[in-house]
Amino acid sequence: MDYKVADLSLADFGRREIRLAEHEMPGLMAIREEYAEARPLRGAKIMGSLHMTIQTAVLIETLVELGADVRWVSCNIFSTQDHAAAAVVVGKDGTAEAPKGVPVFAWKGETLEEYWWCTDQALQWPDGSGPNMILDDGGDATLLVHKGAEYEKAGAVPAATEDDPEEWGIILETLRRTIDEKPGRWTEAAAAIKGVTEETTTGVHRLYEMAKEGKLAFPAINVNDSVTKSKFDNKYGCRHSVIDGLNRATDVLIGGKVAVVCGYGDVGKGCAEALRGQGARVVVTEIDPICALQAAMDGFQVTVLEDVVGKADIFVSTTGNFNIITAEHMAAMKHQAIVSNIGHFDNEIDMAGLAKTPGIVKTEIKPQVHEWRFPDGHTILVLAEGRLMNLGCATGHPSFVMSNSFTNQVIAQIELFTKTEEYPVGVYVLPKHLDEKVARLHLDALGVKLTELTKEQADYIGVHVEGPYKPDHYRY
Ligand code: NAI
Repeated sequence: MDYKVADLSLADFGRREIRLAEHEMPGLMAIREEYAEARPLRGAKIMGSLHMTIQTAVLIETLVELGADVRWVSCNIFSTQDHAAAAVVVGKDGTAEAPKGVPVFAWKGETLEEYWWCTDQALQWPDGSGPNMILDDGGDATLLVHKGAEYEKAGAVPAATEDDPEEWGIILETLRRTIDEKPGRWTEAAAAIKGVTEETTTGVHRLYEMAKEGKLAFPAINVNDSVTKSKFDNKYGCRHSVIDGLNRATDVLIGGKVAVVCGYGDVGKGCAEALRGQGARVVVTEIDPICALQAAMDGFQVTVLEDVVGKADIFVSTTGNFNIITAEHMAAMKHQAIVSNIGHFDNEIDMAGLAKTPGIVKTEIKPQVHEWRFPDGHTILVLAEGRLMNLGCATGHPSFVMSNSFTNQVIAQIELFTKTEEYPVGVYVLPKHLDEKVARLHLDALGVKLTELTKEQADYIGVHVEGPYKPDHYRY
């Protein structure tokens, strides 16, 4: 078996944590039971690009139990939990000497070159074939296949320009090398893929853009916009893991501090609530009047970053947009202000601009925590080099919330793989009855008793007794 992880001797530790996580992931375990005989993913060759954590290990092993042949990478250079990666490679019945699990190419602290090498490795099976399904988080695997096919069609991979970010040059280099090795590979791969299921807001945004431009090569299910994903993982998950990231990175007391949350979407709402829960005085920035009004009604001060940049102690960017916290902002911050991003990509914070500030000195306090000293002597602390801090500095979301997200993922994989003809190229969300099913699978574990509609009540509000209970436009 081909794989590349940090250290297979961590597998036992990983397996013990996977065992605990399974109990906290009732949705995934129920799906395993429901499909134990049918094994609807038999024949599926799934390439997954999603943070290689303990929770993801339970997802991977669920896909395998449903019959899939899986290869995996992390979708971020810092988010891999090495013991989880080791346990998945070794598998339940394997040993470090004779691993029997799933090929994983991921370790904590990859370089960008290694990251794209890993993505390429997971997109290629030992017999030279590619996947027939992608499970993506942020869209990097989908991007590589699409760009590869596009440049093969054009006959050449363009050169990176001076204005391009460093990572784009690495992506182009990866494509150039792989096309040289096997011309036509990406065109073939794109044609063989039945579909992709996408985990996060940023990846979904990329998919809709591609669909709009007519460039999408295969159907996609937007898992993010299942209610039981974005209204739970993005909100309650971040409500938990933003504090975890700050604590493990800095251990600074949050109570009494001024914390700025940039963006008041699902992630921002969770982060703002968590920081307030710790006693921070929370300030929100927004560009959308609706979200700004929501933040104000929820009791937060809403203003522009420039108003608070010199007064705040903690900054968390949650927008999925770029250049939110600029080098100029950071230069104007208080001594030892903490700067972090929990959005998918690192460009929310202008790290390149920060590094170019004349006279700036970077000191590593510990991995994923860096102090940047400005020429005037004041410093700021940047978490996870500007990458998502909850996965870079802590262990991401807890199992229970990820069980909701990943149950949607598995259902979406089954949908696209088994009902391919029902999904012409386009971007879809799962039907509401499946969304409600995911929620239902998580009620017992929390001791929730659900009220049942009578037939008369159901008729009165115009729904079926067994659901769906809301129209598609309902916002929760
Ligand atoms: P969203 O679209 O619900 O929220 C983003 C908000 O930022 C919007 O309300 C938007 O108006 C606002 N915004 C955009 N530009 C802004 C600017 N210049 N200044 C202030 N506000 C601005 O998206 P969601 O679901 O909250 O996701 C945000 C990001 O977090 C995405 O990149 C997503 O992929 C990522 N994500 C990260 C997770 C993690 O565990 N770290 C979990 C879930 C999502």
